[in-house]
Amino acid sequence: MPAPDPIQTVFAMLSPENRANPYPYYRAARELGPLVPTPLGAHLVTGHDDCMTVLSDPRWGHGYSAGISPIRPGVAADDIPGSFIRMDPPDHTRLRGLVSKAFTPREVVRLRPLVERTAEHLVDRALGSAEFDLVSDLAAVVPITVICELLGAPIEDYQRFDAWARALARGLDPDALLSADELRDRATAAAAFGEYFRGLVAERRARPGPDLISQLAAIDDAGDRITETELLDICVLLLFGGYETTVHMTGNMVLALNRHPDQLDLLRERPDLIPAAVDELLRFDPPVQFTNRVALRERRLAGRVFARGEAVVILIAGANRDPRVFPDPDRLDVTRFAGPGSAPRHLAFGLGAHFCLGAQLARMELEIVLATLLRHAPGLTVLDPAPSYRETLTIRGLRSLRVRLEAAGTR
Ligand code: HEM
Repeated sequence: MPAPDPIQTVFAMLSPENRANPYPYYRAARELGPLVPTPLGAHLVTGHDDCMTVLSDPRWGHGYSAGISPIRPGVAADDIPGSFIRMDPPDHTRLRGLVSKAFTPREVVRLRPLVERTAEHLVDRALGSAEFDLVSDLAAVVPITVICELLGAPIEDYQRFDAWARALARGLDPDALLSADELRDRATAAAAFGEYFRGLVAERRARPGPDLISQLAAIDDAGDRITETELLDICVLLLFGGYETTVHMTGNMVLALNRHPDQLDLLRERPDLIPAAVDELLRFDPPVQFTNRVALRERRLAGRVFARGEAVVILIAGANRDPRVFPDPDRLDVTRFAGPGSAPRHLAFGLGAHFCLGAQLARMELEIVLATLLRHAPGLTVLDPAPSYRETLTIRGLRSLRVRLEAAGTR
């Protein structure tokens, strides 16, 4: 048998035809070695420990502020959904610090009843219909309701957010893989986003409320204030970072459980396992499959020296299945992170300075949706035998998932 070719393996991994199950290709890439060259120039980092090393080392970053070419040369940082997620210290530290002052654990607690009410209403409504689309009628509505409340935006604007977020999600993929139409859509979405949020920020400044924009606008931290542009970018980041990710994780979660009925039965019997199950599902099929970094100065990784400016792609979803860290990694085991001392070491929320700021909010939303489905609709049948996936590579999620729900007592 010929030795596997790295370039062919990476092409297979990126191919839209393999979106339904990219995991065998991630494994093949890991088996090629800790670093795999890609046709796009950057090296793929395949193992869990090396991914952790890069993510937790501030000498790997994004490089925009240092004037180092980003992973996609020629693309202005402004064109990419970004704000501080794309920055390095000290800009990143400052902005993340200011946002953390308003986006606190207390804010997550404040949002909890809204998530519960929304999930219950949507599940109860779905119980009355022969079938419903779990992605558009449940998975998308919960996070967008939360984000509108968080930002103080009217929920009626949801459809517009949805279209923009989709165009920007596709825009996270390498430009070489995007069509001219997709590149144009990304630029149009970024401009429309900007215009919408400029109006919203002005409105919140004029009439402050309990929302995050009003709080951020009012921050005056030892004379440090968030500028108008920074505030706008933060809105975009929160909407973008908190929406598509959570929608797709909800879909991935329900589909994975449906394909593992023994694990679903276990959760029905032991709802106390739901928090651990959510982390296992985030490990098993995370919505953010990759992220990237550039060497801000010379770095050694897995025996190779990376010159300043050289880029790597962190294979989050592959690292989450590294057998050296997660025994029997292709098995979904909702008890994996349940015991004492079994902290979830998956990388679904990243790690280090850019660790997901919304991780607690996302966990809360996923736990409530799952608990509500199990409590109100213990009978859940997926009607699509082979549901199709969005074409996005960086964000992995279903286009739709037709399901039928049965209420408790009708099973
Ligand atoms: C950063 C995943 C939900 C806000 C990140 C990163 C990942 C991630 C992997 C780090 C990217 C990198 O290091 O390059 C997820 C997943 C989610 C989720 C899987 C849901 C299942 C949310 C929510 C919010 C949010 C609900 C807020 C409403 C952010 C922000 C950052 C971030 C602001 C940037 C942090 C920084 O750069 O310092 N997320 N996210 N995310 N996420 Fe999330």
